[in-house]
Amino acid sequence: RRPVRWAIRAIGINPEIRKAEEKVVDSVAVSELAKPVTPYCRCWRSGTFPLCDGSHMKHNKATGDNVGPLLLKK
Ligand code: FES
Repeated sequence: RRPVRWAIRAIGINPEIRKAEEKVVDSVAVSELAKPVTPYCRCWRSGTFPLCDGSHMKHNKATGDNVGPLLLKK
């Protein structure tokens, strides 16, 4: 029997949004940001949530999902 944690990670979180794209990444311009680009996690797998740490790549590979971060740009 597989651990519950594995079962949660094996489930995709994006069943229908822009599935033809390799990775769904969007950006929003925010002039008050301290850094030029701040990536926010949308896969719920980041070890630094709410910020993206690149964990979406492992999630996408394991599930066939295509989720990527929301980029807030200055
Ligand atoms: Fe979740 Fe990058 S780690 S979108």
